[in-house]
Amino acid sequence: MQNFDYQTPTRLIFGKGIIEKLPEVMNQFGKKILLTYGGGSIKKIGLYDKVKELLADFEIFELSGIQPNPKYDPSVLDGVKICKENNIDVILAVGGGSVLDCSKAIATGAKYDGDPWDLISYKAFAEDSIPIVDIITLAATGSEYDCGGVISRTETNDKIGYMDSHNYPMVSFLDPTYTFTVSKKQTAAGCADAMNHIMEQYFCEDSTLLNDGFMEAGLKSLMANAVKCLENPQDYTARAEMMLTCTYGCNGIYSLGNSQSGWPCHGIEHALSAYYDITHGEGLAIITPRWMKHILSEKTVNRFVKYGVNVFGIDSTLDKFEIANKAISETYKFFESIGIPMHLKEVGIDESRIVEMAHHIAVNEGLENAWVPLNENDLVKILTDSL
Ligand code: NZQ
Ligand code: ZN
Repeated sequence: MQNFDYQTPTRLIFGKGIIEKLPEVMNQFGKKILLTYGGGSIKKIGLYDKVKELLADFEIFELSGIQPNPKYDPSVLDGVKICKENNIDVILAVGGGSVLDCSKAIATGAKYDGDPWDLISYKAFAEDSIPIVDIITLAATGSEYDCGGVISRTETNDKIGYMDSHNYPMVSFLDPTYTFTVSKKQTAAGCADAMNHIMEQYFCEDSTLLNDGFMEAGLKSLMANAVKCLENPQDYTARAEMMLTCTYGCNGIYSLGNSQSGWPCHGIEHALSAYYDITHGEGLAIITPRWMKHILSEKTVNRFVKYGVNVFGIDSTLDKFEIANKAISETYKFFESIGIPMHLKEVGIDESRIVEMAHHIAVNEGLENAWVPLNENDLVKILTDSL
C-alpha cells in the first residue's frame, strides 16, 4: 500500500428538493454571483428559472453557451473577464462536467494576473480562487467532487486535464431528478466515462482488497443502473445511485493507497476530443477494450482475471488468459449494448490523423510512465485497432 495525503473539502448535498437550500448556501460566499451554464438544457428543465427565483436577492451575472469539451477561448476568457470587471464573490455552475470544468478554470484565472492558460498548463500555480458552488445535471465526470478540470484549446489541438486543489467546489448540489432529461446518448456516455474512471484506478500494480471491492461494486452499480436509466429515464433510484457512483469517480477515494496507473485511456481520449470534438465517454468506450487487449500480458493478466471473475462473473476455473479475453469482450459487449458506437469511424474519425494524434499524446500525456508504458508505436496501434 502506497503513502497518500488526502483531503476532500467539498460539501455534498444530495437528494430530491435540496435546491431549497441554495440561498442559505450562497449567502456564505457573498452577493455577487457569476451563474455559468451550457447551451440551454437548464432552461428546458426549469432549473434556470428556479435558481433565479431562489436567488432574487442576489446580484447575478451570467456566462452561457459553455460547450461540451469546454473551450478556453471564448468561454474561460469571457468568464475571467466578467469576474475581474465585476468583483464576483462566487461562481454558481449549473450543468454537466463541461460547465463545471470551465467554471474551475475561471475561478482561478480570475485571481491570477497573467494568462489563465499558465495555470491549466502548469506553467504557474494558483494562489487564490473564487469559490465555486455547483448544481450538477449530468452523472458522468465526478467534477462535482474533485479538483480536476479539462479545457480545450482549439487552435493548438490541446485538451488538457489538470488538477489544482483550489478547484474543489465548496458545495455541490446533487439532485438526481435533474438528470431525468439526460439523453440516451449522454446517459450511456456518462456511464462509460465513470466506468473508465474506475478502470483507470483498478488496472495498476498495487491495490488492496478494500479498493478492489469498492471499485468492482462501482462498476457493477454503473452497469446495472445505466441499463435501468436507459429503460426508464425517470427511475429515481437508478438515477440516484448512478449519480453517486459517478461522483466518487475522480476524487481519489476509490483508490487511496493504490499505485498510479497513469490514466492511459484518458490520455488517449483527450487527443480524440481535441482533434475531433467527440463526446468524451464515447471516445473512452471505444479505446478501452483496444487498450486492454494491447496491454494484456503475463504481467497484467491477473488483474484482468480478478476483474473478469468479480465484475462479470466469469468462471474462475478457466485458463487465466481465457478469462482475461472474455473479460475484455464482455466490456466491449456492454458498451455496445447501451448504444455506444464502438468504432472511431462511427464518430467521424478516420486514419488520416492517427500518427499526428499518437505523437501529440506521446509528447503531452506522459504515458511512458503508465502502469504499462505506451510509446508512440503503441498509441498508433491502439488507435488503428479502434478504427
Ligand atoms: O450544454 P447544455 O445545453 O447544458 O447540454 C448538455 C450538453 O449538450 C447536456 N446536458 C447536461 N445536463 C443535461 C443535459 N441535457 C439534458 N438534461 C440535462 N439534465 O449534455 C451535453 C453534454 O454535457 P457535458 O457537460 O459536456 O457532459 P459531461 O458531464 O460528460 O462532461 C464532459 C466533459 O468533462 C470532462 C470531459 O473531458 C469533457 O470535457 N471531464 C472532466 C473530468 C473532471 N473534471 O474530473 C473528468 C472526466 O474524465 C472528463 O475528462
Ligand atoms: Zn473521464
